[in-house]
Amino acid sequence: MSFPDDLSAAALAVAGRLARALDAMPDSRVKSAMAHALHGGKGLRGYLVLESCALHGVARDTALDAAAAIEAMHAYSLVHDDLPAMDDDDLRRGRPTVHIAFDEATAILAGDALQSLAFQLCAGTGHAGLTAALAKAAGAEGMVLGQVLDIEAETAPEPLTLEQIIRLQQGKTGALFGWSCMVGPILSNADPAPLAAYATALGLAFQIADDILDTEGDAATAGKRLQKDAEAGKATFVSLLGLEPARARAESLISQGCDALAPYGERAHSLREAARFVISRDK
Ligand code: IPE
Ligand code: IPE
Ligand code: MG
Ligand code: MG
Ligand code: MG
Repeated sequence: MSFPDDLSAAALAVAGRLARALDAMPDSRVKSAMAHALHGGKGLRGYLVLESCALHGVARDTALDAAAAIEAMHAYSLVHDDLPAMDDDDLRRGRPTVHIAFDEATAILAGDALQSLAFQLCAGTGHAGLTAALAKAAGAEGMVLGQVLDIEAETAPEPLTLEQIIRLQQGKTGALFGWSCMVGPILSNADPAPLAAYATALGLAFQIADDILDTEGDAATAGKRLQKDAEAGKATFVSLLGLEPARARAESLISQGCDALAPYGERAHSLREAARFVISRDK
C-alpha cells in the first residue's frame, strides 16, 4: 500500500473508534458540533500512535483508543484555534469552522467536550502514566503554552528570535506529535529515545511545512484560509528564515528524524514515509 492509502486506512479506523464514542452520548447540539469538528482531518497524529504501537506489540484496541484520544484532543485545539478570539477563521478541513456552522458558545463547548473525550479514551488504555503524559502535552507546558506564545507574538514589540519560535512550536505542534510517538514505548516500557528524537524533528518539520503552506499553498486544496500568518503579524519559520532556508531546514530535520529510527531498522519504514509526507504535503 502507498503511504497516502495507509494514512487513509488508519484515519478511517480511528474515525470508527470516535464514532463509537459519540454514539454512546445523548444527541445534542454539542454532540453534532463535535462530529463536525472530528470530520475530515489527515489523521497524522492518530497514524503516529498506531505505528508507534505496532512497533512495540501493543494490542490493536488499546492503540485505537490512544489514537482516537489524540485526534479528539487535536480537533478540540483546532476548534478553539479558529475562534474569533484566536485566529478567527471560517474554513477548516474544507468546511465552515464550528463557530460558523453552529455558533461561538457551541464551538467553545464542543472544544471542551472533545478534550474531555480525549481523556476518557486515553483512560480506556488503563495506563495512568499515559493519561498524565497526555495532560502534560496538551496543557500549560505543552500545546496551550505554544498557543499563548503564538498569540502573544502577534503584538510583541520585537520579532521573535529563532529560539523563541522553536519554543513556541515545541508547544503548539511538537507536544501532541511527541505524545503520539511515545504511546508505544510508554505502553510497553521500551526505550523512548529513538522515537522521542524522531518526534522532535518531525514536529518541527511539520510546523515549518504548515508555515510554508500558509505562505504559498492553495486554500482550496488545504481546506483552510491561507496567507493569514503574515496578515496577523505572526512569527513563523518563514517570516524569520525566508522560504527557501525554511524548506532546507525542514528537509534536513526529516533526514535527522529518519536517522533516529535506525534502531528499528526496516520496521520503521512507514514512519520514514510519514516524515517525508509531512514536508511534501499540500494540505
Ligand atoms: C493543522 O494540523 C494545525 C497545526 C497544528 C499546525 P493538521 O495539518 O494535522 O490538520 P488536520 O488534522 O489534517 O486537519
Ligand atoms: C494551530 O496552529 C495549532 C493548534 C491548534 C494547537 P495554526 O493556527 O498555525 O494552525 P492552522 O494554520 O490554523 O491550521
Ligand atoms: Mg493559531
Ligand atoms: Mg490557526
Ligand atoms: Mg498555521
